[in-house]
Amino acid sequence: MTGARRIDEIIQINADRLAVALENHMRTSFMPDARKELRSFTSAEAAELLGIDPARLRKLHFDSKIPEVNTDGRGRRLYSASDLIAIRSALETQTRKPGQFQPGRRTGNRLQVIAVANYKGGSSKTTTSIHLSQRLALRGYRVLAIDIDPQGSLTTMFGYTPETEFQSGGTVYDAIRYDDPVPMRDVVRKTYFPNLDLAAAGLTLAEFEHETPRALNERREPMFFKRLGLAIDQVEADYDVVVIDCPPQLGFLTMSALIAATTVLITVIPSMLDIASMNQFLQMTAGLLNVVSNYGASLEYDNLKFLITRFEPSDGPQAQMAGFLRALFTDQVMTHTFLKSTAVSDAGLTQQTLYEVDRSEFNRNTYDRAVESINSVTGEVEDLIQAAWGRN
Ligand SMILES: Nc1ncnc2c1ncn2[C@@H]1O[C@H](COP(=O)(O)OP(=O)(O)O)[C@@H](O)[C@H]1O
Ligand SMILES: [Mg+2]
Repeated sequence: MTGARRIDEIIQINADRLAVALENHMRTSFMPDARKELRSFTSAEAAELLGIDPARLRKLHFDSKIPEVNTDGRGRRLYSASDLIAIRSALETQTRKPGQFQPGRRTGNRLQVIAVANYKGGSSKTTTSIHLSQRLALRGYRVLAIDIDPQGSLTTMFGYTPETEFQSGGTVYDAIRYDDPVPMRDVVRKTYFPNLDLAAAGLTLAEFEHETPRALNERREPMFFKRLGLAIDQVEADYDVVVIDCPPQLGFLTMSALIAATTVLITVIPSMLDIASMNQFLQMTAGLLNVVSNYGASLEYDNLKFLITRFEPSDGPQAQMAGFLRALFTDQVMTHTFLKSTAVSDAGLTQQTLYEVDRSEFNRNTYDRAVESINSVTGEVEDLIQAAWGRN
């Protein structure tokens, strides 16, 4: 008999085939060489993002009070994300309510750092992080997204292939490592999304988990839990909000994010098993944070919030578990939920978010319900941010 192969050969063959197929899939879905590009927004979308009436937006154009934008073949206005930034700045000079169109920090306002965390993989951490980052950017905040998951899923959403692109550096690891860290400014990169920068992740980040025990033995300073926060401090003047996408485990990286955070957002699918797993996460986190506080970690924070994700209100057991969480944690649970939707998972297939895909390619109702749910979640986060800055 010919062709009898060993298991390692078969695995290798499959791995090679998968690598080629994945590469092709990525190329056809968003052409990594051309990089991702952000679509334009309709006038209805623009008005919603600016928080004004569509009629008022038309009037502002008519009166030449805001910069003009391009139109499509049928004469309808199309707004790029950069147009929206220019319009915000024009409107801000005309409003009597400072900050209405430029809601970011003012003198004395502290940078808001939101860590999206949970132990469990698949609880929508990355999906929540990317939608939150993009929506906040479109709403006029200057946002830095930091990926600290060595798997680099958030980085992939930005159109990078972490496995091949960051083998010899270029990730946030370079800014937090113990030997010769580079300035954070060197690893932060602009993206195709105006107002939104990225500190990428890659497999090298896993080194941080391996190096930290030894660094602790050798009492190297700064200790692990300060390093991410110190890296963020270096670029803090450039941003209003930082969103950190955590890995699905409670290691040194996640701990660093929790300590750097002003708001911890714990994503949870309302199912019995997920809630049981979250209980372990909370127990272990409390214990570990207590230990590091003895080493001088500052544990001050503004908010701890639970966000119900992948929620299916019509699913009886899920609705019951969501109610259970609300009864237990009351106002620590975000009022709005991130609904489970095929619009989110379909967009995810091509590394896109609801803000990047074209609404016309989806069932309208499905798309609108999904977008409304994540917009409401982000709106609630915006309220937390504004409250932290003493505004309402
Ligand atoms: N609200 C949602 N509706 C439908 N699918 C979702 C939703 N949120 C996440 N997903 C899908 O679930 C999978 C895991 O989500 P992800 O955000 O990567 O989780 P995590 O980062 O917690 O591991 C992805 O395939 C994503 O597209
Ligand atoms: Mg993830």
